[in-house]
Amino acid sequence: MKIPFNKPYFTGREAFHLSQAAITGKLSGNGNYTRDCQLFFEKKYGFKKTLLTTSCSDALEMAALLLEIKPGDEVIIPSYTFVSTANAFALRGATIVFADSGTLNPNMDASLIEALITPKTRAIVVVHYGGIACDMDKITEIAGRYNIAIVEDAAQGVDAYYRDQPLGSIGKLGTFSFHETKNITSGEGGMLIVNDHALIGKAEIIWEKGTNRAAFARGEVEKYEWVGLGSSFLPNELTAAFLYSQLEHLDVIQQKRLQIWQEYHSRLSDLAEEGLLFTTPCP
Ligand SMILES: Cc1ncc(COP(=O)(O)O)c(C=O)c1O
Repeated sequence: MKIPFNKPYFTGREAFHLSQAAITGKLSGNGNYTRDCQLFFEKKYGFKKTLLTTSCSDALEMAALLLEIKPGDEVIIPSYTFVSTANAFALRGATIVFADSGTLNPNMDASLIEALITPKTRAIVVVHYGGIACDMDKITEIAGRYNIAIVEDAAQGVDAYYRDQPLGSIGKLGTFSFHETKNITSGEGGMLIVNDHALIGKAEIIWEKGTNRAAFARGEVEKYEWVGLGSSFLPNELTAAFLYSQLEHLDVIQQKRLQIWQEYHSRLSDLAEEGLLFTTPCP
């Protein structure tokens, strides 16, 4: 039997929202659908500021720019993750320092982090692999003691929690992926979560090609201009419209995913009991 790696879930509302976005004629980014998606996350999870991006990779690159990572800096990431976690910081010239996994899941083993810290360490990038949270109490305590920024690569952790805290809300910055393989998808897509109030203005500038166009759109400045470094990190409205149709059904999608997980878990339990494979506890 051939089991597909992934099947995206369609809510049936995608075509409606895509046509609504097309009818308005506002196809470029930061329109109504972008705002509605961002508001959805800010209201539901209490994030201070969210910015939709074209991918989680882009959101991680924005995080590296926001933290002003430069050659010579060291960034600690887990040794088991997707390449984008490393790329974003390596692109800015940082030296990547790998923290090994624990025994229970692929997340970084928090007890190994402190030994990796040097005066050059600028950030710890945690990855909540498969939406299973890292030991954030311990990691936050270590990062606080050394005054090092935490970035949560929560690419796989939309709508997942560490105790009662939504993933993405604990570090200075967090990132989500809406790639086709993720529970909530827009094909390609992502989000930057800015939990540090002091970084919000700068994040908007980086997001909008180094301009203050976000402030202009809110009527805060008369014209927009080049005010800093940035790039084109925002997705078009069609992507945001597709994502919105998924967000409307977030609870249903998550419930279905959990059912599928339970099915796998129970059918693999015999093999797990025989010690032939290892399963994680119910999320
Ligand atoms: C941990 C992790 N970080 C980053 C990414 C990159 O996400 P995207 O494809 O949205 O750029 C992924 C994608 O699977 C991932 O699993």
